[in-house]
Amino acid sequence: MNRLQGKVAFVTGAGRGQGRSHAVHLASEGADIIAIDICKPVSSVDYPMASREDLAETVRLVEALNRRIVSRAADVRDLDGLTGALDEGVAELGGLDIVCANAGIGGCGRAAELSAQTWQDVIDINLTGVFHTMKAAYPHLNNRGGGSVILTSSVAGVKGIQNIAHYSAAKHGLVGLGKTLALEWGERGIRVNTIVPTTVDTPLIHNLPTYRLFAPNIAEPTREDVAGAFASFNALPVSWIDPVDVSRLVLFLASDDARYITGATMPIDAGATA
Ligand SMILES: NC(=O)c1ccc[n+]([C@@H]2O[C@H](COP(=O)([O-])OP(=O)(O)OC[C@H]3O[C@@H](n4cnc5c(N)ncnc54)[C@H](O)[C@@H]3O)[C@@H](O)[C@H]2O)c1
Repeated sequence: MNRLQGKVAFVTGAGRGQGRSHAVHLASEGADIIAIDICKPVSSVDYPMASREDLAETVRLVEALNRRIVSRAADVRDLDGLTGALDEGVAELGGLDIVCANAGIGGCGRAAELSAQTWQDVIDINLTGVFHTMKAAYPHLNNRGGGSVILTSSVAGVKGIQNIAHYSAAKHGLVGLGKTLALEWGERGIRVNTIVPTTVDTPLIHNLPTYRLFAPNIAEPTREDVAGAFASFNALPVSWIDPVDVSRLVLFLASDDARYITGATMPIDAGATA
């Protein structure tokens, strides 16, 4: 299908995981892509971020679909750097229609034991980084006379989950940001929706520190050791969904099939919030 022919989509955190999947699936429907990722570690996060090679692989996959892609290493915490990267992409590709504010970090710890830096990095990236993405994107969407914005929250954005207070606070913030932007930008024809995935099969959950939280009695827990604990979050018998499951919702919201959907908070959660 070519539901997004002639459109340009901006995807943050596009180096791997859901962001790469969104970039590739948006391209498969005809969109050209502006892709950014931090491409270096975040010191308070105890698993690696995407690398430059990961981002280059996203570029390869999009180009293999005969779509254009502009990629840059950029940090959503850096408003000027992020704006510069997006502006360059828009100048090259001719406009902006779709924004996937997807970049984010995880991490675990009891609320009272989180370091101030760990708290701040999650708020700065997962909440303020999305605000920066919106600030950078708005002039281009406004120029185009409309668009579709998709903010990636989480089930932790609509319910409390122990051991991720910082993450839950930031993701709850996105629900409020998304609803407010839907109201402020509606008259410009810009739709803003927030998606709420359950656990997704990416490095954000598949890392040793997270595994240790779910299997504290095993020294080196594996994917198999934690699958049951993760499945207990969901109504459907699945431990984690695939990035493509989230991309299908992103494609729907990005397309005219969702032309009268805005301000919504949409689960793709295997029943986790039921
Ligand atoms: N994996 C899950 O279980 C899950 C569930 C619900 C929501 N989410 C959310 O989905 C989004 C995508 O995560 P994912 O699951 O693909 O994990 P991931 O770790 O594979 O991908 C996140 C990407 O964001 C990038 N990134 C991190 N900090 C950045 C920054 N400051 N600037 C630019 N890029 C940055 C990383 O390098 C990485 O490529 C995140 O917002 C995450 O919070 C994840």
